[in-house]
Amino acid sequence: MISIKGLSRTFGRGAGQTTALKDISLEIPEGQFVAIVGTSGSGKTTLLNVIGGLDSGWKGEVSIAGQSIAKLSDAQMSKLRSERIGFVFQHFNLLDHLSCLENVTLPGFFGGPNATGGAERAREVLRLVGLGEKIDDKPSQLSGGQKQRVAIARALFNRPRLILCDEPTGSLDRRTGLQIMDLFQRLNQSEGITLVIITHEEHVSEMASRVVRLEDGAMISDEPNDPVSPAQLLEALDKQQQEEGA
Ligand SMILES: Nc1ncnc2c1ncn2[C@@H]1O[C@H](COP(=O)(O)OP(=O)(O)O)[C@@H](O)[C@H]1O
Ligand SMILES: [Mg+2]
Repeated sequence: MISIKGLSRTFGRGAGQTTALKDISLEIPEGQFVAIVGTSGSGKTTLLNVIGGLDSGWKGEVSIAGQSIAKLSDAQMSKLRSERIGFVFQHFNLLDHLSCLENVTLPGFFGGPNATGGAERAREVLRLVGLGEKIDDKPSQLSGGQKQRVAIARALFNRPRLILCDEPTGSLDRRTGLQIMDLFQRLNQSEGITLVIITHEEHVSEMASRVVRLEDGAMISDEPNDPVSPAQLLEALDKQQQEEGA
């Protein structure tokens, strides 16, 4: 699904130059759930932006679904992005003046299988993320966790085979974060969607089946992981809070 060979990315010139990624090589097969971890400034967002075709100016080889993305024109990259890739960000990136339904339908305006007749698909994905009742609400009427569910529904709209997430639980409390991770784990397991999640939270990375660690732009480890179930962590959290309350 994703193949990266000898990827490097440098920003700026001369004395002000920063090397954000150093000679990264990585293969991510279809259906895998990978966490990319590392401290702030280690290159995680830069890596995700390259994979998602949101950055140029890097060196190396990157292929998504067998297509070498360096060779694609902007229009071809947009097409690949809208057909294959969903994005989820820390701050949800919803448009406040639009309803949930309209936010979710947005990817249809950039092409893809639901370019027309998207309302039905939007309702379907909003139901899938548990927001069937909030279709006409504006983002300002929703909690943080609900906003992130809308963002996930939007990411799912075009039936992507890959979802890229940059700190998707970074703005959420622990319980809400676990609920969102439970949704991601289910999407990965039931739909086989490839998931790449950036996080600096160790307990979030433990839910992935592979953990790639970056430090100062270099890949310092790449390990398989026996995934922890967010549903079990939620149960444990409920129990703990009941005991504290009792
Ligand atoms: N657009 C940019 N211009 C200049 N430097 C950048 C830019 N984007 C990222 N960097 C630098 O690249 C390094 C990695 O950043 P980033 O990928 O955002 O790290 P992370 O997501 O792990 O916090 C940092 O030193 C950052 O300052
Ligand atoms: Mg980042």
